[in-house]
Amino acid sequence: MPRPLRLGVLTGGGDCPGLNALIRGLVKRGIHEFGHEFVGIENGYMGLVEPELTRPLTEEDTRGILPKGGTILGTSNKANPFQYAVREGDTWVEKDVSDIALRRAEELKLDGIIAIGGDGTLTIGHKFTEKGLRVVGCPKTIDNDLSGTDQTFGFDTARAICTEAIDRLHSTAEAHDRVMVVEIMGRNSGFLTLDSGIAGGADVILIPEIPYRVEAIVEKIRRRGRRKRSFSIIAIAEGAYPEGGTLAVLDKASDIPGRGVVRLGGAGKVCADLLARHIEAEIRVTVLGHLQRGGTPTAADRVLATMYGCKALDLVRDGQWDSMVALRNGKIVTAPLSESRKERRVDPNGEPVRFAKSMGISFGD
Ligand code: F6P
Repeated sequence: MPRPLRLGVLTGGGDCPGLNALIRGLVKRGIHEFGHEFVGIENGYMGLVEPELTRPLTEEDTRGILPKGGTILGTSNKANPFQYAVREGDTWVEKDVSDIALRRAEELKLDGIIAIGGDGTLTIGHKFTEKGLRVVGCPKTIDNDLSGTDQTFGFDTARAICTEAIDRLHSTAEAHDRVMVVEIMGRNSGFLTLDSGIAGGADVILIPEIPYRVEAIVEKIRRRGRRKRSFSIIAIAEGAYPEGGTLAVLDKASDIPGRGVVRLGGAGKVCADLLARHIEAEIRVTVLGHLQRGGTPTAADRVLATMYGCKALDLVRDGQWDSMVALRNGKIVTAPLSESRKERRVDPNGEPVRFAKSMGISFGD
């Protein structure tokens, strides 16, 4: 029987459905099977840098959280201790405060940390293991863009929400003979748009992996017109852009202290404006935004997140630090934490895209 440990738990990056299910699985199995003790670290890695952001995480805390969205531990996508935003006079500067986090982990007598997050959170976890702090990762994100795993939890729920949104947009599109453009999250990967576009019956699917030509979309809309289809649905990923064009960006990395990534948005409007020069039909843009990340997780995400939480304890038991849990060919396995750094993207020649094209769905190419 392995010695019971004292483990810190944090959720970092954007929230997504299933985080609480994972925390519940982890804490319940950890206490029942291993006798571990858990410390909740609030607001991602911020909880290891700022004072008074840690608390005991007990089985009592996990009661009733399985169907809840968000995270009971709070999160932050700006708290990178290796590039931490610190106010100096009127400006923000980025400083490496990772040693403060290491000291805090020592003071808390943590044997290791379970870091639940996307590429940013897991990459930071990997950097901490290089400095001696023991970390096991659990991959989450609605974008499904982590290369170490076939699927992240949160994706299934977001896909269901986007599909329902496309279903609902069909009514107005048809009633008003409109072109409805729906902008879907996913950063530089088109998985969410591709799947929900297929599931929702979109006529055009635009993803970052395939830069689009406006003429191709116009041609598709006209072809539909000739077949007496007076409306069209365009599912566009926030990271999609026209050939020769650039990403639609809300703010640059340098505008967000400590963040290091750009915030995308506006791809739908860019596409609509380009189309408006060529077609008579009214065009409306719907940006699904954070609706995609909210609310109760689907059954599939609850199960995947619970399995991830339970499996993370096997990695701890086996001393597999600097690793993360992952899904491969339907099995929960382990992968190096460093894998999370590689971005996974839709294969433009893969079956989902080829089959969608063979049904007449346009990708604007
Ligand atoms: O990574 C998840 C995600 O929702 C992306 O799809 C999106 O680009 C980004 O986070 C939005 O971030 P924020 O919540 O900071 O606006």
